[in-house]
Amino acid sequence: MLSQKYPFVLPPLGYANNAVEPAVDAQTMGIHHDRHHAAYVTNLNAAVQPQTALHGLTLGELLMGLRRWPPAVQTAIRNNGGGHANHALFWKLLSPGGAVAQVPSGRLAEMVARDFETVDACKAALKAAAVSQFGSGWAWLVKTATSRLAVRALPNQDSPLLEGELPIVGIDVWEHAYYLKYQNRRADYVDAILARINWDVAGDQVV
Ligand SMILES: [Fe+2]
Repeated sequence: MLSQKYPFVLPPLGYANNAVEPAVDAQTMGIHHDRHHAAYVTNLNAAVQPQTALHGLTLGELLMGLRRWPPAVQTAIRNNGGGHANHALFWKLLSPGGAVAQVPSGRLAEMVARDFETVDACKAALKAAAVSQFGSGWAWLVKTATSRLAVRALPNQDSPLLEGELPIVGIDVWEHAYYLKYQNRRADYVDAILARINWDVAGDQVV
């Protein structure tokens, strides 16, 4: 997804709207993908369309190089480019039913052991970041510029790529992600999401 260039395209969800129930109800999933994510893509295209010098750049390059682009387009790329990249990863991370890889393997497992000691400690740090993020934002497991794992709580649609960090796992804590089913019970939503994260997909993000 980070290799997409203008014009950007909404990726399919990859599963039915009800495939991640009961963690995510079908109505929320449909609105979240078909309206919220779609709007980020539409608004990103509208912002980048007049900036022909940026048309050859990938989504990842646009986010990592944000401060180098014309000031008029920086906020739109930050918000809508971030929204596009963040959600595209989120849909892939969610496991649509059945067995799910509950723990990382391979290189990611080694990094978790080195930087958190245990998988449970890593998940607990992610949950703490997700629950404590004030207002809209995301909790992230990232690979830092020095190839360590770290947890970040970032506001709005800020991508870890803005600071040169690679997103490995993201948990959307905007109210649009959970309010219909969970109302103010964000911690319950985060627990349900963490139980549906496919850690094999997370491992694929480590490069
Ligand atoms: Fe979202």
